Amino acid sequence: MAATAINLQPYASLNDDDCDNRIIKAKQALGKRVVILGHHYQRDEVFKHADFSGDSLKLSREAANSDAEYIVFCGVHFMAEVADIISRPEQISIIPDLSAGCAMADMADLDQVERAWAELSSVLDADECITPVTYINSAADLKAFCGSHGGIVCTSTNAQKILDWSFAQREKVLFFPDQHLGRNTGVKMGIPLEQMVIWDYDQPMGGLEPEQIRQAKMILWKGFCSVHQVFEPGQIENFRREVPKGKVISHPEASYEVCQLSDYVGSTEYIIRTVTDSEPGSHWLVGTELNLVNRLHQTLAKDDKIVQFMSPMVCMCSTMFRIDPQHLAWVLENLVEGHVVNQVSVAEEVANNARIALQRMFDN
Ligand code: 13P
Ligand code: SF4
Repeated sequence: MAATAINLQPYASLNDDDCDNRIIKAKQALGKRVVILGHHYQRDEVFKHADFSGDSLKLSREAANSDAEYIVFCGVHFMAEVADIISRPEQISIIPDLSAGCAMADMADLDQVERAWAELSSVLDADECITPVTYINSAADLKAFCGSHGGIVCTSTNAQKILDWSFAQREKVLFFPDQHLGRNTGVKMGIPLEQMVIWDYDQPMGGLEPEQIRQAKMILWKGFCSVHQVFEPGQIENFRREVPKGKVISHPEASYEVCQLSDYVGSTEYIIRTVTDSEPGSHWLVGTELNLVNRLHQTLAKDDKIVQFMSPMVCMCSTMFRIDPQHLAWVLENLVEGHVVNQVSVAEEVANNARIALQRMFDN
């Protein structure tokens, strides 16, 4: 065993093939002590090493069910935090690159949410009237906020079920950080657009009048995912003209207009399942991250399917992309040498309250 952790620097000059061999060797040496979880947006060179792949919900379940000593999360930071919160205390959650955050998750922080809650409380009794719901794409302390205010976590897979639960608790929902998932799910549940207001966290009282807050059923945080913002209705209209029999499928982080024009809307796992199960020869336009779409296209070419990215612009999740084979080889070889690098560890009090909100989600 090396006395100190192995330095990252020399890995930068390794090519992907070298990394491949070293990752495979390190995984073999670690055996069942390690599990690698890979989100669908990961690049192929990393994704192929995952023991389990999935959307946020599926991967959080894999993390909870894992017996491995080390959970190496190839995804973004909030996912590794969830793994730490719901795994056993002796398990260690690791992200190959600590700078792999989620830009949308960063659009809401605890100070802003606490201020929003205080301002809402000046209009109505927030703890009586509002269920706070955080998308899993959020920091652990926001999940903890929800846990300690009777709220809950949702993912893109279960958002409707979670909102049903939330409205059964209290008459209104404060939904953060993604306005689009909130709005698209609310619309699906029959909530009129007029009853969904935007909370602009840069403005006093979210930029709302007290009466707008009293009338609202859903208060939507003004957050968004820039990857899913590149999809536009015109892209779907062009596709429909060019491929009249084609199908359109989008992630609910895309805008209301894009989701309304899509034939199907759902999580990354749902998108993969729906396109995979479709008729041979079908042609799809897909509104989600590019790595997933390209991989689906390559995998399904054998069935003569065409799987096309919705935007003419090349747009990947740049933070997911920070996880590369060099970082993965580095964390695994350190584990072989008995060193944990890039551990993601959530403070106990925060983790306890966040676990309450996550558990409410798992119970639904
Ligand atoms: P999924 O849970 O659908 O994989 O979505 C996570 C995400 O970050 C999408 O941008
Ligand atoms: Fe976050 Fe968007 Fe990347 Fe998903 S695609 S991890 S929401 S920045």
